[in-house]
Amino acid sequence: MRKKAKAISYAKIIWFGEHSVVYGKPAIALPLYNVDVHTNLTTETSGQTIDCRYFSGPIDEMVDNLKGVSVLIHQLLTIFNAQKINFHLKIESKIPSERGMGSSAATAVAIVRVFFKLFEAPLTRNRLLELANIEEKITHGNPSGLDTATASSEVPVWFVRHQLNEQIDFNLSNAFMVIADSGIKGKTGEAVSMVHDRLIDEPETATPLINQLGQIAKAARQALSSTDEVKLGKLMTQSQYDLAKLGVSTKALNAFCQIAIKNGALGAKLTGSGLGGCMISITQNQVAAQKVATALRKAGATQTWIQPFKNYNFSIGDNNGNLVK
Ligand code: MEV
Repeated sequence: MRKKAKAISYAKIIWFGEHSVVYGKPAIALPLYNVDVHTNLTTETSGQTIDCRYFSGPIDEMVDNLKGVSVLIHQLLTIFNAQKINFHLKIESKIPSERGMGSSAATAVAIVRVFFKLFEAPLTRNRLLELANIEEKITHGNPSGLDTATASSEVPVWFVRHQLNEQIDFNLSNAFMVIADSGIKGKTGEAVSMVHDRLIDEPETATPLINQLGQIAKAARQALSSTDEVKLGKLMTQSQYDLAKLGVSTKALNAFCQIAIKNGALGAKLTGSGLGGCMISITQNQVAAQKVATALRKAGATQTWIQPFKNYNFSIGDNNGNLVK
Protein backbone atom coordinates (compact mmCIF):
# COMPACT_ATOMS: atom_id res chain seq x y z
CA MET A 1 0.00 0.00 0.00
CA ARG A 2 1.25 3.49 -0.86
CA LYS A 3 1.11 6.53 1.42
CA LYS A 4 -0.38 8.79 -1.25
CA ALA A 5 -2.14 8.48 -4.60
CA LYS A 6 -3.58 10.72 -7.32
CA ALA A 7 -6.14 10.09 -10.06
CA ILE A 8 -8.02 11.90 -12.80
CA SER A 9 -11.24 11.68 -14.82
CA TYR A 10 -13.03 13.90 -17.33
CA ALA A 11 -16.26 15.75 -17.94
CA LYS A 12 -18.46 14.07 -20.52
CA ILE A 13 -20.61 15.42 -23.30
CA ILE A 14 -23.37 13.24 -24.72
CA TRP A 15 -23.37 13.97 -28.42
CA PHE A 16 -26.23 11.65 -29.39
CA GLY A 17 -28.58 9.39 -27.47
CA GLU A 18 -29.34 10.87 -24.04
CA HIS A 19 -32.53 9.42 -22.56
CA SER A 20 -32.95 6.84 -25.35
CA VAL A 21 -29.75 5.19 -24.00
CA VAL A 22 -31.66 4.35 -20.80
CA TYR A 23 -33.96 2.18 -23.00
CA GLY A 24 -31.19 0.24 -24.73
CA LYS A 25 -30.62 2.53 -27.73
CA PRO A 26 -27.05 3.44 -28.72
CA ALA A 27 -25.36 6.67 -27.68
CA ILE A 28 -22.22 8.59 -28.64
CA ALA A 29 -20.39 10.57 -25.97
CA LEU A 30 -17.09 12.43 -25.66
CA PRO A 31 -14.73 13.00 -22.74
CA LEU A 32 -13.53 16.62 -22.41
CA TYR A 33 -9.82 16.61 -21.61
CA ASN A 34 -9.60 20.14 -20.34
CA VAL A 35 -12.56 19.87 -17.98
CA ASP A 36 -11.36 17.37 -15.42
CA VAL A 37 -11.57 16.06 -11.86
CA HIS A 38 -8.45 15.38 -9.76
CA THR A 39 -8.46 13.26 -6.62
CA ASN A 40 -5.59 13.27 -4.13
CA LEU A 41 -5.53 10.73 -1.34
CA THR A 42 -3.06 10.74 1.55
CA THR A 43 -2.77 8.50 4.58
CA GLU A 44 -0.41 10.91 6.37
CA THR A 45 -3.20 12.38 8.48
CA SER A 46 -5.49 11.46 11.35
CA GLY A 47 -9.14 10.46 11.00
CA GLN A 48 -11.04 9.98 7.72
CA THR A 49 -11.69 13.33 6.08
CA ILE A 50 -12.77 14.71 2.72
CA ASP A 51 -12.47 18.12 1.11
CA CYS A 52 -14.63 18.87 -1.93
CA ARG A 53 -16.85 21.60 -3.40
CA TYR A 54 -19.75 20.84 -1.08
CA PHE A 55 -18.18 19.64 2.11
CA SER A 56 -15.03 19.68 4.16
CA GLY A 57 -14.71 17.46 7.24
CA PRO A 58 -15.02 13.88 8.53
CA ILE A 59 -16.65 11.50 6.01
CA ASP A 60 -19.14 10.31 8.61
CA GLU A 61 -20.56 13.82 8.79
CA MET A 62 -21.03 14.21 5.03
CA VAL A 63 -24.15 16.05 3.88
CA ASP A 64 -27.10 14.17 2.40
CA ASN A 65 -26.56 15.12 -1.24
CA LEU A 66 -23.17 13.38 -1.04
CA LYS A 67 -24.67 10.10 0.12
CA GLY A 68 -23.58 8.37 -3.10
CA VAL A 69 -19.95 9.40 -2.53
CA SER A 70 -20.09 8.35 1.11
CA VAL A 71 -21.50 4.88 0.27
CA LEU A 72 -18.90 4.46 -2.47
CA ILE A 73 -16.00 5.31 -0.13
CA HIS A 74 -17.27 2.88 2.52
CA GLN A 75 -17.57 0.19 -0.15
CA LEU A 76 -13.99 0.82 -1.28
CA LEU A 77 -12.70 0.65 2.30
CA THR A 78 -14.55 -2.64 2.75
CA ILE A 79 -13.05 -4.08 -0.46
CA PHE A 80 -9.54 -3.33 0.85
CA ASN A 81 -10.41 -4.37 4.39
CA ALA A 82 -9.21 -0.93 5.46
CA GLN A 83 -12.20 0.44 7.36
CA LYS A 84 -9.93 1.84 10.06
CA ILE A 85 -7.17 3.55 8.03
CA ASN A 86 -6.51 7.26 8.35
CA PHE A 87 -6.96 9.19 5.11
CA HIS A 88 -7.68 12.61 3.67
CA LEU A 89 -9.34 12.74 0.23
CA LYS A 90 -9.20 16.00 -1.72
CA ILE A 91 -11.45 16.32 -4.79
CA GLU A 92 -10.81 19.22 -7.17
CA SER A 93 -13.28 19.51 -10.02
CA LYS A 94 -13.44 21.86 -13.01
CA ILE A 95 -16.81 20.37 -13.99
CA PRO A 96 -19.77 22.60 -13.19
CA SER A 97 -22.23 20.52 -11.20
CA GLU A 98 -25.70 19.60 -12.47
CA ARG A 99 -25.07 20.89 -15.98
CA GLY A 100 -25.25 17.60 -17.89
CA MET A 101 -21.45 17.31 -17.99
CA GLY A 102 -21.26 14.23 -15.79
CA SER A 103 -19.86 15.87 -12.67
CA SER A 104 -21.01 13.13 -10.28
CA ALA A 105 -19.91 10.29 -12.58
CA ALA A 106 -16.46 11.81 -13.07
CA THR A 107 -16.09 12.28 -9.32
CA ALA A 108 -17.03 8.65 -8.68
CA VAL A 109 -14.56 7.41 -11.33
CA ALA A 110 -11.71 9.49 -9.90
CA ILE A 111 -12.49 8.25 -6.36
CA VAL A 112 -12.46 4.58 -7.38
CA ARG A 113 -9.19 5.06 -9.28
CA VAL A 114 -7.41 6.82 -6.43
CA PHE A 115 -8.30 4.12 -3.87
CA PHE A 116 -7.14 1.35 -6.22
CA LYS A 117 -3.89 3.26 -6.79
CA LEU A 118 -3.36 3.71 -3.06
CA PHE A 119 -3.76 -0.03 -2.50
CA GLU A 120 -1.75 -0.80 -5.66
CA ALA A 121 -4.53 -3.07 -6.88
CA PRO A 122 -5.24 -3.74 -10.57
CA LEU A 123 -8.46 -2.21 -11.81
CA THR A 124 -10.21 -3.41 -14.95
CA ARG A 125 -12.53 -1.12 -16.81
CA ASN A 126 -15.57 -3.25 -15.96
CA ARG A 127 -14.75 -3.20 -12.25
CA LEU A 128 -14.20 0.56 -12.38
CA LEU A 129 -17.61 1.14 -14.00
CA GLU A 130 -19.38 -1.29 -11.67
CA LEU A 131 -18.00 0.52 -8.60
CA ALA A 132 -18.50 4.07 -9.92
CA ASN A 133 -22.11 3.20 -10.75
CA ILE A 134 -22.75 2.50 -7.02
CA GLU A 135 -22.58 6.28 -6.54
CA GLU A 136 -24.58 7.01 -9.72
CA LYS A 137 -27.43 4.68 -8.66
CA ILE A 138 -27.80 6.56 -5.38
CA THR A 139 -27.47 10.00 -6.95
CA HIS A 140 -29.56 9.47 -10.12
CA GLY A 141 -31.76 6.40 -9.61
CA ASN A 142 -31.58 4.51 -12.92
CA PRO A 143 -28.30 5.39 -14.67
CA SER A 144 -27.58 3.82 -18.06
CA GLY A 145 -23.86 3.79 -17.20
CA LEU A 146 -23.01 6.08 -20.12
CA ASP A 147 -21.76 8.89 -17.86
CA THR A 148 -19.22 6.76 -15.99
CA ALA A 149 -18.18 5.01 -19.22
CA THR A 150 -17.34 8.38 -20.79
CA ALA A 151 -15.83 10.04 -17.70
CA SER A 152 -13.35 7.14 -17.51
CA SER A 153 -12.50 7.10 -21.20
CA GLU A 154 -9.70 8.86 -23.08
CA VAL A 155 -11.60 8.67 -26.35
CA PRO A 156 -15.16 9.11 -27.69
CA VAL A 157 -17.41 6.15 -26.89
CA TRP A 158 -20.19 4.24 -28.61
CA PHE A 159 -22.33 2.85 -25.82
CA VAL A 160 -25.25 0.44 -25.56
CA ARG A 161 -26.51 -0.27 -22.04
CA HIS A 162 -25.38 -3.67 -20.67
CA GLN A 163 -23.93 -4.57 -24.07
CA LEU A 164 -21.30 -2.40 -25.66
CA ASN A 165 -18.81 0.20 -24.55
CA GLU A 166 -16.27 0.76 -27.29
CA GLN A 167 -14.22 3.59 -28.65
CA ILE A 168 -15.51 5.26 -31.75
CA ASP A 169 -12.96 6.32 -34.28
CA PHE A 170 -13.42 9.35 -36.55
CA ASN A 171 -11.46 12.06 -38.20
CA LEU A 172 -13.10 15.45 -37.89
CA SER A 173 -9.97 17.53 -38.22
CA ASN A 174 -11.55 20.92 -38.96
CA ALA A 175 -14.83 20.85 -37.05
CA PHE A 176 -15.24 22.20 -33.51
CA MET A 177 -17.82 21.69 -30.79
CA VAL A 178 -19.14 24.68 -28.86
CA ILE A 179 -20.64 23.98 -25.44
CA ALA A 180 -22.69 26.63 -23.65
CA ASP A 181 -23.87 26.52 -20.05
CA SER A 182 -27.36 27.91 -19.56
CA GLY A 183 -26.45 28.55 -15.93
CA ILE A 184 -29.56 26.65 -14.87
CA LYS A 185 -29.13 23.41 -12.94
CA GLY A 186 -30.13 20.31 -14.88
CA LYS A 187 -32.23 17.75 -13.06
CA THR A 188 -31.09 14.29 -14.08
CA GLY A 189 -33.26 12.25 -11.71
CA GLU A 190 -36.37 14.31 -12.50
CA ALA A 191 -35.78 14.28 -16.27
CA VAL A 192 -35.18 10.50 -16.35
CA SER A 193 -38.37 9.79 -14.37
CA MET A 194 -40.34 12.28 -16.48
CA VAL A 195 -39.41 10.42 -19.68
CA HIS A 196 -40.20 7.12 -17.95
CA ASP A 197 -43.66 8.42 -16.98
CA ARG A 198 -44.33 9.68 -20.50
CA LEU A 199 -43.48 6.27 -21.93
CA ILE A 200 -46.10 4.77 -19.62
CA ASP A 201 -48.77 7.47 -19.93
CA GLU A 202 -48.37 8.38 -23.61
CA PRO A 203 -46.59 5.46 -25.30
CA GLU A 204 -47.99 6.36 -28.73
CA THR A 205 -46.07 9.65 -28.81
CA ALA A 206 -43.11 8.91 -26.51
CA THR A 207 -42.03 5.49 -27.89
CA PRO A 208 -41.49 6.71 -31.49
CA LEU A 209 -39.40 9.61 -30.14
CA ILE A 210 -37.13 7.22 -28.20
CA ASN A 211 -36.84 4.97 -31.26
CA GLN A 212 -36.03 7.92 -33.47
CA LEU A 213 -33.32 9.15 -31.07
CA GLY A 214 -31.76 5.68 -31.34
CA GLN A 215 -31.94 5.82 -35.16
CA ILE A 216 -30.31 9.25 -35.11
CA ALA A 217 -27.39 7.91 -33.04
CA LYS A 218 -26.89 5.13 -35.63
CA ALA A 219 -27.05 7.64 -38.49
CA ALA A 220 -24.54 9.83 -36.62
CA ARG A 221 -22.10 6.93 -36.43
CA GLN A 222 -22.38 6.58 -40.22
CA ALA A 223 -21.92 10.33 -40.68
CA LEU A 224 -18.83 10.19 -38.46
CA SER A 225 -17.30 7.41 -40.52
CA SER A 226 -17.83 9.43 -43.69
CA THR A 227 -16.67 12.69 -41.99
CA ASP A 228 -19.93 14.40 -42.90
CA GLU A 229 -20.12 17.40 -40.53
CA VAL A 230 -23.13 18.88 -42.27
CA LYS A 231 -25.12 15.67 -41.71
CA LEU A 232 -23.96 15.52 -38.08
CA GLY A 233 -25.22 19.06 -37.56
CA LYS A 234 -28.61 18.18 -39.05
CA LEU A 235 -28.85 15.08 -36.86
CA MET A 236 -28.10 17.17 -33.77
CA THR A 237 -30.91 19.58 -34.61
CA GLN A 238 -33.24 16.64 -35.25
CA SER A 239 -32.32 15.20 -31.83
CA GLN A 240 -33.08 18.52 -30.20
CA TYR A 241 -36.51 18.50 -31.83
CA ASP A 242 -37.25 15.03 -30.44
CA LEU A 243 -35.85 15.80 -26.97
CA ALA A 244 -37.96 18.97 -26.81
CA LYS A 245 -41.03 16.90 -27.75
CA LEU A 246 -40.16 14.50 -24.92
CA GLY A 247 -40.34 17.53 -22.63
CA VAL A 248 -36.73 17.74 -21.42
CA SER A 249 -35.64 20.95 -23.13
CA THR A 250 -36.09 24.46 -21.70
CA LYS A 251 -36.78 27.87 -23.18
CA ALA A 252 -33.16 28.90 -22.65
CA LEU A 253 -31.80 25.74 -24.33
CA ASN A 254 -34.19 26.13 -27.29
CA ALA A 255 -33.11 29.76 -27.65
CA PHE A 256 -29.41 28.84 -27.47
CA CYS A 257 -29.89 26.24 -30.24
CA GLN A 258 -31.53 28.84 -32.47
CA ILE A 259 -28.83 31.43 -31.75
CA ALA A 260 -26.05 28.95 -32.49
CA ILE A 261 -27.59 28.01 -35.83
CA LYS A 262 -28.31 31.65 -36.73
CA ASN A 263 -24.63 32.39 -36.09
CA GLY A 264 -23.35 29.68 -38.40
CA ALA A 265 -23.46 26.41 -36.40
CA LEU A 266 -24.23 23.30 -38.46
CA GLY A 267 -26.63 22.06 -35.78
CA ALA A 268 -27.34 22.27 -32.06
CA LYS A 269 -28.99 20.37 -29.23
CA LEU A 270 -29.14 20.05 -25.47
CA THR A 271 -26.75 17.58 -23.89
CA GLY A 272 -27.27 15.33 -20.87
CA SER A 273 -30.54 15.04 -19.05
CA GLY A 274 -31.89 18.49 -19.94
CA LEU A 275 -34.36 20.51 -17.82
CA GLY A 276 -31.40 22.92 -17.60
CA GLY A 277 -27.69 22.36 -18.14
CA CYS A 278 -25.80 22.79 -21.38
CA MET A 279 -26.29 23.10 -25.12
CA ILE A 280 -23.82 21.79 -27.70
CA SER A 281 -23.36 22.79 -31.33
CA ILE A 282 -20.84 22.01 -34.05
CA THR A 283 -19.18 24.36 -36.46
CA GLN A 284 -17.10 23.89 -39.59
CA ASN A 285 -13.96 25.54 -38.14
CA GLN A 286 -12.50 27.42 -35.18
CA VAL A 287 -13.38 30.92 -36.40
CA ALA A 288 -17.02 29.87 -36.73
CA ALA A 289 -16.86 28.28 -33.26
CA GLN A 290 -15.61 31.51 -31.75
CA LYS A 291 -18.42 33.46 -33.42
CA VAL A 292 -21.05 31.04 -32.05
CA ALA A 293 -19.51 31.10 -28.56
CA THR A 294 -19.50 34.91 -28.51
CA ALA A 295 -23.14 35.06 -29.62
CA LEU A 296 -24.12 32.54 -26.91
CA ARG A 297 -22.33 34.48 -24.20
CA LYS A 298 -24.10 37.65 -25.32
CA ALA A 299 -27.38 35.72 -25.10
CA GLY A 300 -26.69 34.79 -21.46
CA ALA A 301 -24.54 31.64 -21.50
CA THR A 302 -22.68 31.67 -18.18
CA GLN A 303 -19.73 29.75 -19.64
CA THR A 304 -18.70 28.43 -23.05
CA TRP A 305 -16.10 25.85 -24.06
CA ILE A 306 -14.68 25.25 -27.53
CA GLN A 307 -13.56 21.68 -28.11
CA PRO A 308 -11.58 20.53 -31.18
CA PHE A 309 -12.08 16.92 -32.26
CA LYS A 310 -8.55 16.44 -33.56
CA ASN A 311 -7.04 16.00 -30.07
CA TYR A 312 -8.61 12.60 -29.68
CA ASN A 313 -5.93 9.96 -30.12
CA PHE A 314 -7.44 6.64 -30.93
CA SER A 315 -5.99 3.32 -29.86
CA ILE A 316 -7.10 -0.22 -29.30
CA GLY A 317 -7.06 -0.36 -25.48
CA ASP A 318 -4.88 -2.29 -23.05
CA ASN A 319 -5.03 -5.86 -21.75
CA ASN A 320 -7.55 -4.97 -19.06
CA GLY A 321 -9.97 -3.65 -21.66
CA ASN A 322 -9.20 -0.07 -20.68
CA LEU A 323 -9.29 2.48 -23.47
CA VAL A 324 -5.93 4.22 -23.46
CA LYS A 325 -4.37 7.13 -25.39
C1 MEV B 1 -27.60 11.84 -18.18
O1 MEV B 1 -26.30 12.41 -18.30
C2 MEV B 1 -27.90 11.01 -19.38
C3 MEV B 1 -29.26 10.32 -19.39
O2 MEV B 1 -29.35 9.59 -20.62
C4 MEV B 1 -29.42 9.37 -18.21
C5 MEV B 1 -28.49 8.15 -18.28
O3 MEV B 1 -27.96 7.83 -19.34
O4 MEV B 1 -28.32 7.53 -17.21
C6 MEV B 1 -30.39 11.32 -19.37
